[in-house]
Amino acid sequence: MSKHKLIYQIYPTAIGTLRDIADKIPLIAKLDVDYIWLSPIFLSPWVDGGYDVADYCKIDPRFGNMADFRHLVSVCDKYNIGVLLDLVLNHTSSEHEWFKASEKHDPWYKDYYVWRDKPLNWNSFFGGPAFDYDQIRGKYYLHLYDKTQPDLNFYNPRVVKEFKNIIHFWSSRGVAGFRVDSANILADSAFKPGYLPRIAGFFNYYQTTQTVDILEKLFSHEKIFTVAEPVGGDFMSKAKFRELTRKAFDASFNIGTLDAADTIFSMKDKIQKIHYKHWFKKLAKWTPEKKFSMALETHDTPRAVSRFDTDPKVLAMLEFLLPSYNPCIYQGQELGLANPELSDNIDDYPGVQSRQMYQRLRKEGKTKAQAMRIVKKSSRDNARQPIDWADYVLQDHNPDSVLNFYRKLIKLWREDIVIAEGALKVRKTTNKGAFDFDRVYKGKYYSVHLDFSCKTPSTLKNDLGQTIITTSPS
Ligand code: GLC
Repeated sequence: MSKHKLIYQIYPTAIGTLRDIADKIPLIAKLDVDYIWLSPIFLSPWVDGGYDVADYCKIDPRFGNMADFRHLVSVCDKYNIGVLLDLVLNHTSSEHEWFKASEKHDPWYKDYYVWRDKPLNWNSFFGGPAFDYDQIRGKYYLHLYDKTQPDLNFYNPRVVKEFKNIIHFWSSRGVAGFRVDSANILADSAFKPGYLPRIAGFFNYYQTTQTVDILEKLFSHEKIFTVAEPVGGDFMSKAKFRELTRKAFDASFNIGTLDAADTIFSMKDKIQKIHYKHWFKKLAKWTPEKKFSMALETHDTPRAVSRFDTDPKVLAMLEFLLPSYNPCIYQGQELGLANPELSDNIDDYPGVQSRQMYQRLRKEGKTKAQAMRIVKKSSRDNARQPIDWADYVLQDHNPDSVLNFYRKLIKLWREDIVIAEGALKVRKTTNKGAFDFDRVYKGKYYSVHLDFSCKTPSTLKNDLGQTIITTSPS
């Protein structure tokens, strides 16, 4: 079986119901994808775009019901596409019945979450303290994300068992696997009695042996495809996580390491200049051996075209000409979509991250206009807008479109052995925005020239010097 598996991420509200998504599968299938990954479709109060799950075995009515889900799976089946669901392990919604029972000190559920008599001085990802007081229980609970997203206690074997059951529930309904959310921050000894935290913040949790152990318990014996989302950290820590979790996961994303232009979770408010040289160096160091599932954008990042301010075809070449077994395309990326012009009014933003970022910036003394400028550039809502299917169809018929460029590259990535399996050799260049490298396989050399400044055409040439693919119009 080929190791090359292409993932295509769908953020469901940007398409519609499960039936609407099923209708689009024939078009998406023309990219030759192996899996669609659906961001959460479970019952949710939708504070964090579905990443706040109130019931892992129920479909949110906004998307339809189980019959609609079965229909989607059967359409995907026809096109040989597996469906990956998004498994949020770190936390549930505070609306989940487990949390409601835990708050009430129910004997079965009381230890499902991380409760403490006194808070720690940790910050949450979205800003503000990571511990909040719960009036009903009379204790503090941990939430590494929003306060409506209480962290689960994975030291409790009952919690592990719950997720084993959830995994079986969905795999028996035709699901091919899971994208595992925030997979590297599940547990640490921080909450064992008497433990004194070393440092403030989620780094206490970071990629600990306990987390790896839990992941292995959950996934290593399952015949499903799993791809992890490790959050935080740099290339090195992501590569380490990949190594640590080879038993649990088939693949692991690099996203978040694109820190040349990354604004994920708004940790960085400054609208940064991209240090291409620095970034290329890191890519060259960490992408060989196909360590990562290569992804340039997700529902958590603004559009890559806007972040990198470059030609979408150059980005496509980067993603498919660097070594990678499990790249991921985020819906609309294949059309070359840039950030839309978002509203100047924060009340129009659905995402919790945008609103919290705005409040924090205002507290820090930024004017409304300054705060909105930053929010507009770095909001996750940029990538969560409806897809224009009329544009999709136009691009489908246009041989020079970004969409057809992606299709050509994907074919090469699968079928040309030099691109599929060749080693990576970086070449020196004096052009600042350029990344030049060779792919080498059994004496065959292909050379790649990527110019992010777009001053020269980006090209892939074979060892006879013939151009196989180029960004210059035909
Ligand atoms: C993941 C998701 C992100 C969500 C967060 C909390 O990083 O990708 O959208 O906000 O987890 O669940």
